[in-house]
Amino acid sequence: MPPLAHNTSVATCPETPELPLDYAPARKPAPRQSLTDELTVFREFGQATRTLVTTFAGADAQPRAVATFVNEFWTAKQRQASSLHEISYRACFKPQLPRFFIERLTQPGEVVYDPFMGRGTTVLEAALLGRVPCGCDINPLSLVLTRPRLRPPRLEDVAQRLQQIDFAAPDEFPEDLLVFFHPDTLRAIASLKKYLLARRAAAALDALDDWICLLALNRLTGHSPGFFSVYTLPPNQAVSVKSQRKINADRNQTPPPRDVPALILKKTRQLLRDCDTPTRRVLASVAPRALLLTQPAARTPQIPDCSVALVVTSPPFLDVVDYATDNWLRCWFLGLDAKSVKLTVPKKLDAWQAAMTEVFHELHRVLKPGGHVAFEVGEIHAGKTRLEEAVLPCGVAAGLEPELVLINDQQFTKTANCWGVANMAKGTNTNRIVLFRKVRCVYA
Ligand SMILES: C[S@@+](CC[C@H](N)C(=O)[O-])C[C@H]1O[C@@H](n2cnc3c(N)ncnc32)[C@H](O)[C@@H]1O
Repeated sequence: MPPLAHNTSVATCPETPELPLDYAPARKPAPRQSLTDELTVFREFGQATRTLVTTFAGADAQPRAVATFVNEFWTAKQRQASSLHEISYRACFKPQLPRFFIERLTQPGEVVYDPFMGRGTTVLEAALLGRVPCGCDINPLSLVLTRPRLRPPRLEDVAQRLQQIDFAAPDEFPEDLLVFFHPDTLRAIASLKKYLLARRAAAALDALDDWICLLALNRLTGHSPGFFSVYTLPPNQAVSVKSQRKINADRNQTPPPRDVPALILKKTRQLLRDCDTPTRRVLASVAPRALLLTQPAARTPQIPDCSVALVVTSPPFLDVVDYATDNWLRCWFLGLDAKSVKLTVPKKLDAWQAAMTEVFHELHRVLKPGGHVAFEVGEIHAGKTRLEEAVLPCGVAAGLEPELVLINDQQFTKTANCWGVANMAKGTNTNRIVLFRKVRCVYA
């Protein structure tokens, strides 16, 4: 077994088991400035970094301090992210966030993991940067949204496959859905559903079917003529039949006919905009080694011990997300039971901390010694609850060492608040990321 590529002086791991993903060995990292030094002098977007301190209660209840860096570390003005990311998902982060950490903390060929994968922002960005993508999400939609974009097809192949599908042969015609769709559109959607379910049952789903399924899911309902439905809420929040009836009455609208294959092809063209030959080449080199899981993040035995170089993730927050209500229509299309999906959404902070501590234990297991976790916590309770303070003890309880807190603030000339930066209410976009490192190996 080859020695671990990372700094083995900090820990001794058991032999790394054979990886099911055929991981490429990491290149030896080039010597570089430490992240702390880089953040301190960072000035790429014209602002100097401000250094603060975040405190939290350590294991012995003594206060501990972590260096905290505030600046505009990535920005909307920066080089646009790949068009492949342009899939909506509730509470997704921008690709620039994982990119910032992947570029600084990993080498091509190393494994980058997101235990709360969502639409797959980290996973896709990792793959685009030549890292081996690994992801997990309890929501089965996450896999449907992520996997096809790791192996994007060619436009002409999508067009050809769409021509082979019979869009006028449904098995069902759920009349309730006529509040969203014109009868011809509903027939086409139900026919596509039947085709995809039959392909799945025959274990014949290929990359083109996966792609068409993703696109159909993405176009199902929305607020513009680019979607299959009449005007409704954005695609992340399917409304009930009753609410849609009211929307239709209020707006005096009836669902117009939509060309399902044409809309799939149009969105395909948009998504593939940046898919040039080098992009396809890099994706093709890592996608076959990807590992994407649909299960709770706290138990992922498929991921070997000490195999992951970096985790970039954003957990479910303390808000109330009713999965079944939000996803009933997409689950209908996929033939899934929306009520069977149980997301982790504790409403109380201590229950959330307990759930996150469990996940951190699992992350500690899968991380290489020297590997990092970049844990993004968003705004909750209108910025009154500081989740970075709440999350620090969870990582520490799992044996991880807090390195720093990074606050990315995109407009930070506004009125200062308690972090010295303006919050969402002031019109800024703030991400707070707690960075942990695995320095010890607790395995016997
Ligand atoms: C804030 S979102 C992540 C969004 C992601 N960063 C992106 O850019 O799309 C949190 C995700 O956690 C998932 N989730 C909730 N409970 C989970 C659990 N116990 N295990 C794994 N995933 C879970 C949700 O389905 C959701 O996709």
